[in-house]
Amino acid sequence: MDGAMQNARVRLGDERFDIRPLGHTMKSNILSRDTESSPAQSTNTRETTEVVMPHTDGPDVLQKRERQLPPSRADEARVRVEAAGVSFAEVQMLRGRYFNQPSFPFVPGYDLVGTVTDVGSGVSELAVGQRVAALTETGSWANHVVLPAEKLVPISDELDPAEAVAVVTNGVTAWQMLHRVAQVQAGQTVLVHGASGGVGTLLTQLARAATVDVIGTASASKHDFVRSLGATPIDSHDDDVPDQVRELAPDGVDAVFDHVGGSGLADSWRVLAPGGTLVSYGVASALDANGHRLRPFIPLAARLLLWKALPNGKQATFYYVQRWPQYFDEDLTEVLTLLADGTIDAEIDHRVPLPEASDALQLLDTGRASGKVVLVPEVE
Ligand SMILES: NC(=O)c1ccc[n+]([C@@H]2O[C@H](COP(=O)([O-])OP(=O)(O)OC[C@H]3O[C@@H](n4cnc5c(N)ncnc54)[C@H](OP(=O)(O)O)[C@@H]3O)[C@@H](O)[C@H]2O)c1
Repeated sequence: MDGAMQNARVRLGDERFDIRPLGHTMKSNILSRDTESSPAQSTNTRETTEVVMPHTDGPDVLQKRERQLPPSRADEARVRVEAAGVSFAEVQMLRGRYFNQPSFPFVPGYDLVGTVTDVGSGVSELAVGQRVAALTETGSWANHVVLPAEKLVPISDELDPAEAVAVVTNGVTAWQMLHRVAQVQAGQTVLVHGASGGVGTLLTQLARAATVDVIGTASASKHDFVRSLGATPIDSHDDDVPDQVRELAPDGVDAVFDHVGGSGLADSWRVLAPGGTLVSYGVASALDANGHRLRPFIPLAARLLLWKALPNGKQATFYYVQRWPQYFDEDLTEVLTLLADGTIDAEIDHRVPLPEASDALQLLDTGRASGKVVLVPEVE
């Protein structure tokens, strides 16, 4: 058995923890905190349960850890997590292939929605009891977190936390790619790769809400789902995807949203209409590649720069959700408004209890999810 799958006592800073594997039946894996070395209890501290990704392996390798959260510092707030997103980024992190790969061991979790339970002495813009959202990149797979207050965006109490979290990273990503990068216009046609996934479902719905036609690639088993979102599906496994796109859009498409990269990126460029924009935002095709995790980005960057320089009126660019931090709150509010009024749906595939994070990650790792998988910590 892998050593990391056994119980272990680890030291992190001044604290010690007992760690046990998560596995598929981890509800019974109750972990005991080392009370001897815990910081003294104060009204301002709080015990949290968090999920740890200890090293590369399969989703079963995840572990559960309990620790005492330190009191919030002056510029921080503590949040009781009500929902945390599960995304393809964690699938990549588990392989050690996320482009901004954190060092193992770490607590994954790209985003969260929760309620403020404590604020630091210097925080005036947040109050205890307020519902907030945050893009954390890591750390949200926990039932309580302490974060810099500036990272917390106040959101409506009316929203279901799991639905809201489904549109934090993915909604802002989709909104910004459509409206800030490609600047789509009513009546245009766009190609959305991976239209069945977390980002893809929102790209499709937000485009449809802007009266834009969508051609969406996805595995054949998910075509009814993609159709239900308002897109025309194409099987992403077919060899003639560009021909099928040309049949549907003879003059080319006005934008392509490509998270796959690799050799197919050239096809994404070719199917663009004059004046169209290619938005590359991932290299999912390199998930199981060998070599340095950043290696796939070298040919990607070279191609984008070359295409951008060509005088043919087409645009090519890479998008990263942290590109415009100044617009994050505004764009999240925009997407949450569309969620609240029913213009878009969160398309939640599964709500999974936090202790079953391995199962949640497995859904994405095996491509079984359609839409978003959300972790839901137990209400205490
Ligand atoms: N740049 C950014 O700021 C940013 C932000 C968020 C996400 N992303 C990227 O966006 C992508 C989607 O993230 P997500 O969380 O929405 O993932 P997701 O829910 O797992 O959806 C991804 C979808 O893409 C398809 N797919 C997976 N691997 C593929 C491959 N090798 N080739 C073709 N299609 C593939 C799958 O569709 P089928 O099952 O139908 O085949 C899957 O439903 C990821 O690559 C992620 O890294 C980038």
